[in-house]
Amino acid sequence: MAKILTLTLNPALDITVSLDALRPGHVNRAGTQHSHAAGKGLNVAQVLADLGHDVTVGGFLGQDNLQPFEALIAWRGFADCFVRVPGETRSNLKLVEADGRVTDINGQGPQVDEAASVALMALLEQTAPGHDAVVVAGSLPRGISPEWFRELLQRLKTMGLKVALDSSGEALRAGLQSAPWLVKPNTEELGEVLGLSVDSPAEQQAAAQRLLATGVEHVVVSAGEQGVSWFSAGPLLHAQPPQVRVASTVGAGDSLVAGMVHGLLLAEAPAQTLRRATAIAAQAVTQVGFGIRDREHLARLEAAVQLTEQQEGCR
Ligand SMILES: Nc1ncnc2c1ncn2[C@@H]1O[C@H](COP(=O)(O)OP(=O)(O)OP(=O)(O)O)[C@@H](O)[C@H]1O
Ligand SMILES: [Mg+2]
Repeated sequence: MAKILTLTLNPALDITVSLDALRPGHVNRAGTQHSHAAGKGLNVAQVLADLGHDVTVGGFLGQDNLQPFEALIAWRGFADCFVRVPGETRSNLKLVEADGRVTDINGQGPQVDEAASVALMALLEQTAPGHDAVVVAGSLPRGISPEWFRELLQRLKTMGLKVALDSSGEALRAGLQSAPWLVKPNTEELGEVLGLSVDSPAEQQAAAQRLLATGVEHVVVSAGEQGVSWFSAGPLLHAQPPQVRVASTVGAGDSLVAGMVHGLLLAEAPAQTLRRATAIAAQAVTQVGFGIRDREHLARLEAAVQLTEQQEGCR
């Protein structure tokens, strides 16, 4: 198995509250409430751990609400490379109504000052070498500039790590300038970052080719229930997941990233890599939460993924 670092610069405490019907401006009575330490890199880390990898996690954590994060890190046995910063890690609140409607209120998170960003870079200079890959996922916290982010990715690459990037907007744009090994935008993120329409398969392919031409090796474009397209030097592969009952789509993209990194680092056949990654993501949507809990269910999903292969340049 591989040694993998995941970086979450802007983690969150996910708080899910169920209630009958949300009445804004009134006192609402909640049903159940669950909270858990999250953030895209931490989510990817958990799926990678389920797949048997040796995982280090890092980024920034607010020092005023460390407990759930430290408990998760200890429980999972992750090596901890998080730099503690003054203030609270943000909370992302999900209000789930009986009819299934979900209202998200995403917190802002602590301000990260220069001393903390210098400290993280120094910590990674010491600890990152020796890892096979790094997954950098999620948004940038306040105080972290896209330029610093690009520099971070560049340095990780110089240290010999394969860099997988899953972000959006300015962070994705800046990160792409370092030509990461793998990127996993969804169709909306891909179109937005390139300023292109990616509605048709041909447009998607043209957009992915632009990224491949800059030195990105793997462009993995996700499209929710419509599946995944994987553009690389090899044939274009598309995976269509089976129809599943959706419990929660939280962690679908993170599960896909973990599955792709897993197959690629193990040098599995591309079709098998994409098939399993798509099944792991499909399993994530059937569960509240994510992760590989039921291997037999995963095997059934894997068998039901439909793969199509096109030689490059074909339409
Ligand atoms: N309803 C679904 N049924 C089956 N598979 C799904 C469904 N929704 C998502 N997936 C799988 O999860 C992958 C990632 O989903 P999506 O494209 O929504 O990612 P994302 O927008 O990055 O999500 P995230 O919010 O997790 O970042 C899809 O490519 C698909 O394989
Ligand atoms: Mg995503």
